[in-house]
Parts: sequence; C-alpha cells; structure tokens
Amino acid sequence: LKFECLSNDGVDKHMVWLIGLKNIFARQLPNMPKEYIVRLVMDRSHKSVMVIRRNQVVGGITYRPYASQRFGEIAFCAITADEQVKGYGTRLMNHLKQHARDGDGLTHFLTYADNNAVGYFIKQGFTKEIHLDKDQWHGYIKDYDGGILMECKIDPNLPYTD
Ligand code: ACO
Repeated sequence: LKFECLSNDGVDKHMVWLIGLKNIFARQLPNMPKEYIVRLVMDRSHKSVMVIRRNQVVGGITYRPYASQRFGEIAFCAITADEQVKGYGTRLMNHLKQHARDGDGLTHFLTYADNNAVGYFIKQGFTKEIHLDKDQWHGYIKDYDGGILMECKIDPNLPYTD
C-alpha cells in the first residue's frame, strides 16, 4: 500500500492513476457532473493524493493549493465502494495534511462537504465554524450551494504519517 501525491505531469503511469481516481469520483459523487470532475482532476493547478494498492487506485483526494493564501480547497474525496470504512479515508487525509503542510506550506483546508460526509470530515478535524479571515479565502473558492463549508487547521508540528 502506498500514498502518492501528484498532478497531471504527462507521466504515463500518473495519467493511468488519475483516470482511475476520476472514475472513483464519478461513481462515488453522483451529483457532480462528470465533465467537471475530469476538468479538475486533470487541471495542473490541482493535486491529487491517492491510495495505491497493487498498482490500482483505491481512492484519493483532489485539492487546489492556494499557496499565497496558505490554504487548500478540497474539491473531491472518495474511496472506492468495496474499500470504504476500513480506515483508508483517515490515512489518506493524514497524508494530505502532511504533504500540504511540509510540501505546499499550507495551514488550513476548506471544503464544501456533502451532507452525508460531514461525519467523516468532523472525525478528520474539520469544523463548520470558519476561523480563517474571510479576506483570506473569499473570491478564491467558488460558492457552491450543494454542501456545507467546513474548515480544518493543520497542526504545525504533529507527525501525521509514520
Ligand atoms: N459519515 C459519517 N462517518 C463516516 C462516514 C460518513 N459518510 N464515512 C466514514 N465515516 C467514519 C467511519 O465510521 C470512521 O469512524 P471511526 O474512526 O470512529 O471508526 C471514520 O469516519 C473514518 O473512516 P474511514 O474508514 O477512514 O473512511 P473511508 O475510508 O470510508 O472514507 C469517505 C470516507 C471518503 C467519506 C468514503 O466513505 C467515501 O468515499 N464515501 C462516498 C463519497 C463521499 O461521500 N465523499 C465525500 C464527499 S464531499 C467531498 O468530496 C468534498
């Protein structure tokens, strides 16, 4: 089992994984238009952290780091159906936090969580209260009425992965 963080860099193996992840998102997030999912997953300003097992994508998180604003927006998060509730979602989020802090220099995440995923995000340290200054994120992330805006502060010191 491994965790990889990458974007659309033209490497064949990465493209295969990104397409696998796009397919998981399309199936697990049926309310999202498929073209929108493809566009963001393949967009070079987005990155994806993926769980890979036996060279197959099991799930992932696609996010956009706003380095100047020190926060990242999680666009999509999903684990393939038959691998949910086995702890992969938690490990994935921990890898995302570690990478975003140490690699991108971010301090927070924001996301519009689906109603049924709010419980998962709360367990990952997200809150419905937004502590970031509105000036820091307003105009960067798009308003989206199909979810609840949630925030997570990344601990500056915690080792999130071993
Ligand atoms: N609601 C409430 N609690 C949940 C949910 C949920 N939908 N999913 C998992 N949990 C809980 C688990 O019970 C577990 O609790 P525990 O630590 O007390 O045992 C904890 O959250 C972590 O569970 P994991 O096994 O690590 O989570 P999993 O691997 O299943 O991944 C995920 C969670 C990504 C939500 C997955 O279930 C999934 O893909 N769901 C369908 C797609 C989805 O809803 N994605 C999020 C949409 S919002 C967005 O993309 C911005």
